[in-house]
Amino acid sequence: MAADPRPWSPTSWQEHPAAQQPEWPDPAALDSVLTTLSGYPPLVFAGEARQLTEALGRVAAGEAFLLQAGDCAESFETFSANSIRERLKIILQMAVVLTYSAGVPTVKVGRIAGQFAKPRSSDTETVDGRSLPSFRGHMVNDVEFTDEARLPDPNRLIEAYHQSAATLNLLRAFTKGGFADLSRVHLWTQEFVRASPEARRYESLADEIDRALRFMRATGIDPADQPSLHEVDFYTSHEALVLGYESALTREDSLTGDHYDCSAHMVWIGERTRGIEDAHVEFFRGIANPIGCKLGPSASVEETLALCEVLDPDRTPGRLTLITRLGAERIGDLLPPLVEAVRAAGHPVVWACDPMHANTFTSPSGRKTRHFDEILRELRGFFDVHRSLDSWPGGVHVELTGDDVTECLGGAEALADHELDLRYETMCDPRLNGRQSLDLAFGVAELLRG
Ligand code: PEP
Ligand code: CO
Repeated sequence: MAADPRPWSPTSWQEHPAAQQPEWPDPAALDSVLTTLSGYPPLVFAGEARQLTEALGRVAAGEAFLLQAGDCAESFETFSANSIRERLKIILQMAVVLTYSAGVPTVKVGRIAGQFAKPRSSDTETVDGRSLPSFRGHMVNDVEFTDEARLPDPNRLIEAYHQSAATLNLLRAFTKGGFADLSRVHLWTQEFVRASPEARRYESLADEIDRALRFMRATGIDPADQPSLHEVDFYTSHEALVLGYESALTREDSLTGDHYDCSAHMVWIGERTRGIEDAHVEFFRGIANPIGCKLGPSASVEETLALCEVLDPDRTPGRLTLITRLGAERIGDLLPPLVEAVRAAGHPVVWACDPMHANTFTSPSGRKTRHFDEILRELRGFFDVHRSLDSWPGGVHVELTGDDVTECLGGAEALADHELDLRYETMCDPRLNGRQSLDLAFGVAELLRG
């Protein structure tokens, strides 16, 4: 990255304060794991990351829409072909809804194949007067409330690598090997969604797509000759939190000489680790991947501009995605000055809305949850602000699962507080279930149509 004269290396972040890092009990064991990881093959290729930057460049230019979605925290325990396929299915369905009903190409990025590390508001968790280290994601430790489970174990970094590799392998097979073929658009609906109003709405849209494909055939265009109807480009992303892991997977690209964090196509900086002098920003400024940065309600115009200057000095379209998570209540006040300042500074960023993380609360039943209506309300605020400033509302960033969980309130099935206990399975934040996700996609498609 030419414009920043300060030297950079994949480990220069070590000279900066690093927030949210695990306290590994045995530094020698950690070193040995990181040495092993740095000899492993990259999980993604630099050329794919560049392709995503280009696709996001089209989003920044208002020609496409970003759908970034997946788990809050992936699990080592619920790792199976089924769970990967269910998550892919719901994202493909949402993308079809967005593309077909709003007529805008959708760039699909999963929070998947590497989303194993979590920032925490407190280093410790106290239960009945006993304090243990907080759960930091399966890359670090385990959720169970015991000394042994909560002790950070560097061998988990190796397991995270292997699970990411296997997940990516299956995603590649599904998206390029026929499963994502548009002629299968009817088959992506999950069993439990099938009888619902959202599914009926989706089915009628799928019927229209079938008709369009038949029409193409009838006019002499053979859909079989159109690769874009049979394959999808699906990219992976996660919060690059544990910097030892990320820097061990960073490789110099032989073609360009640039460094890429080859743990995922896209990585992002979380709300708690975006300090301008801190280690995460230092690491991210030197990698050439497309990157994201979360911006919460405390993000000032000055901080945002400083982040843009360090992370996107060359003003590259698609390089930087600013993921605002400001809350349904405050987005109307907080977002406009950020959008205006970033535009005035000339950064061609993607603006994405994470309507989840600033709308989280503890329900009367004691569950950490989010209400579907508030999620949609923040999205509506996001579209309103961008439309009023003649700026492109570039994308959404959501936490979801294809499964029939009961973690978020509301939605078409009007999930109530007393129902949260039925299937509350997340290890971290509450996710939209399959029906709520589809419902949200129809809501966003309406907003996109304006
Ligand atoms: C997340 O995306 O899971 C997360 C922790 O978000 P944030 O950094 O915005 O709080
Ligand atoms: Co989360």
